[in-house]
Amino acid sequence: MSTVPQEFDPSFIAQQSSPDRQIYRAETRSKEPMASLLANNPEIYFVPPQRRSEWGNWEFKPGSYYDTTIGSKHAFWRDLDLPQPSKDIDRLRNDLLRWGYCKVEDALSADQIKIMRQRVLEQAEGERLAGIAQRTPSGQNINCCVNKGRCFELFVEQHPDIAQGGPLVEQLVTEALGPGWICTSLIAAISLEGGVPQALHQDQGNALDSRSPMSVNILTPITDVDETTGGTLVIPGSHRVLSDAVREGKPVGKLPPAINLDAKAGTMVITDGRLLHGTGINHTDKPRIVMLNGMQKPWMRQQENWMLSVRPEVLLRASAKLLHRMGYQATTGTQTNEGHGFGAQGMPDEAAGALVDFRLASDEGDYHRVGELSADSGADELNAPFTLRDVVGKARTGGVSAPVGIGREGLVSGQGKAKD
Ligand SMILES: [Fe+2]
Repeated sequence: MSTVPQEFDPSFIAQQSSPDRQIYRAETRSKEPMASLLANNPEIYFVPPQRRSEWGNWEFKPGSYYDTTIGSKHAFWRDLDLPQPSKDIDRLRNDLLRWGYCKVEDALSADQIKIMRQRVLEQAEGERLAGIAQRTPSGQNINCCVNKGRCFELFVEQHPDIAQGGPLVEQLVTEALGPGWICTSLIAAISLEGGVPQALHQDQGNALDSRSPMSVNILTPITDVDETTGGTLVIPGSHRVLSDAVREGKPVGKLPPAINLDAKAGTMVITDGRLLHGTGINHTDKPRIVMLNGMQKPWMRQQENWMLSVRPEVLLRASAKLLHRMGYQATTGTQTNEGHGFGAQGMPDEAAGALVDFRLASDEGDYHRVGELSADSGADELNAPFTLRDVVGKARTGGVSAPVGIGREGLVSGQGKAKD
């Protein structure tokens, strides 16, 4: 007979766990600061389209946060000293502290912009032709750029060969995050005409009451951005307002209005992970391209590198729960693999963000990663047996291997963290 003490029985534990007896419940279940923020700023509310068929039919609501303009044209903001493009490190420091973002002027030279823009546009076209483009409600994203061109490898380093202002940017990021920071991803976010705005959000999803950022995102427009081309929507200074409200346990009151970021191609805009922001609307027929290069503190990751170290036999017999614990499950826009897993809620047993098949394919020497593609790629390259195709196809059929790859319409993502 079983002699397991009754205190370990799940139903007994549930009986002892009414909400009033749980510890830290207020913190772990808190919907703040977004709950009071939305209650007191209803014009900020936006439900992104859920299905692809809805993307073209969303309704523009005048007076909403995305119905705005750049700071210098905005009645509320134009007389305030908002961040200006600058190479002066003290100006940039002050802008980042006060407003939650700063603009490093001419961080890419004209030649460097050209190299980046050409590679992004070529890759976007190649991924469309290969049927593996990641469509987003705003347009198209190119994920895992580091696999897709030498310029992107250098870009992650802020190497002066691709970003002449890299050393200045690195100094500011080091001051914001402390030494040893790591890159969380490099994505090219392309906004296209007819795309929808993104709900305002903070990239830094936890520790919102922090006194300094846990993450920063370096946004680099490689096409000019403003109120017409889909300049990122930001509420200047919101990084402090929101973290102060959480720390003091007070609701967020009325916020100042959002503006469109305006920046010339080649500006590196360093944004504090606590800043409220979202992708803007591109009202033109030209693609708007912003490189999203997120950085974070190095301790916010797993101690053991399970992705490499776990034996294949262990992976093959692992439950969904064990896989999840070890990081083989994308969770709401983190630990995505070549972009697979955006939109996954990240619960164990969820095919949408399951990653183990990438590792198993790698063990077999058969992991076919998406590399450089363009309209000049041959049929062999475009139709290559990309593992991404198989994994996405399997996820779409609920975890059962799909007999065919995904169609030409490409991969579709929800509104994850993969946008501005
Ligand atoms: Fe974001």
